[in-house]
Amino acid sequence: MANKIIEIQPSQVQKGMYIELPIPWKDNPFLMRKFKVYFDYQVDIIRDLAIDHVKYYPAKSDAEPLPASEESSSVTKPEPTAEQEKQKEEALQKLEWEKMERVEKLKEHRRNLQKTEKEFSNTLKNIKDVMGKLSSRPVNAVEEATEMVNNIADTILSADNLILHLMSDDGGGENLYYHSLNVTILSMMIARAAKLDPEDAKILGLGALFHDVGKLKVPKKILLKKGKLNKAERGVLELHPKYGVDLLKLNEAFPEQAQPIVDQHHEYLDGTGFPYALKEDKINPLAQILTVVNVYDNLCHPPSGAEGNTPSASLSFMYKKMTKKVHSGYLNMLIKLLGVYPPGSVVALSDGNVGLVMSVNSQDLINPEILLYDPNIPRAEALTVNLADTDIKVEKVFKPSQLKKDALEYLSPRSTTNYAYFVQDGR
Ligand SMILES: [Fe+2]
Repeated sequence: MANKIIEIQPSQVQKGMYIELPIPWKDNPFLMRKFKVYFDYQVDIIRDLAIDHVKYYPAKSDAEPLPASEESSSVTKPEPTAEQEKQKEEALQKLEWEKMERVEKLKEHRRNLQKTEKEFSNTLKNIKDVMGKLSSRPVNAVEEATEMVNNIADTILSADNLILHLMSDDGGGENLYYHSLNVTILSMMIARAAKLDPEDAKILGLGALFHDVGKLKVPKKILLKKGKLNKAERGVLELHPKYGVDLLKLNEAFPEQAQPIVDQHHEYLDGTGFPYALKEDKINPLAQILTVVNVYDNLCHPPSGAEGNTPSASLSFMYKKMTKKVHSGYLNMLIKLLGVYPPGSVVALSDGNVGLVMSVNSQDLINPEILLYDPNIPRAEALTVNLADTDIKVEKVFKPSQLKKDALEYLSPRSTTNYAYFVQDGR
């Protein structure tokens, strides 16, 4: 009973109450529609808004509503003094100013994201190009790929403040290209965390980009088979690392040191991997980095196109079940760099909102950027909030099955776990 949300008159609001305004974000002067009232001027402004009620959340409040106005009308309220009027005016102006600033910041943020998205889709296009050219114009293909990987590596390795950002995909069945880019980016993030020599990192990046190129030789009906593969099919699929190396070996421009990365990206430390069932230190150290991120991305996006796991579920599966198979140091780095709340997680916030984690900042993992679920705002204009700018905290991570259908569609947590990265402007 005490948790029931109730409608009250604006005149009943006082400090300590958690409330929701009945008007859209755009039409009210506050930063959020739901919030806790901390200051007297907020109380005054709420009472002056042209609204007939607000929603009161008892469970999130430290104070109860004042008596409704009929009962309190016998108490004559003193006319505000000129000084009080002035203070109220100033407070309102300050709020509006802050809100304008926020709107400007959001606009700039959207522009940056559009730029990042454009770069991301260009890179994807290039990857597709380069892989297509690998047999027909191999030298060009490798030169272009090297340049692409060097750019990614230089940016990721040298940035002070790196943001890993969630990108949506078009679901167009181009999993191989998205997957190649995801694992290249995540490999470079681990290279950065492990303080790898930049030359080794670039070799790793090139191996990561081409690690699954051998899949182009595997029949589609095997690659996209939804159910379990039979022995013969599995045999063919498990040759893809070898097919990849065979293809890359023909290419003089492809560095020899990157070949074992492709060849061994499915080997596990306990000898249960393929195609060679290598163990422990027989596995190339750079291939061990690739294996960690490859397993992770395959759990999020099964290559067969089957429904994937959420980032958090994928990480916890690896942590619980795969520590004998993959390098635990690199796994810990992946967990750390994706943050406690990996991009793609759906979270409940301490202010009562629900949202999708869009970006994590490598320097501030517990304060991700969140896209807020608000059915009153179209998805394309959805508000984002950077928790670092607020005192809002993440309270819990949802499983997609715990979300209502409309929230699930709005936030679509599964179809959007590809990563782009950008460097935050430190100024
Ligand atoms: Fe693979």
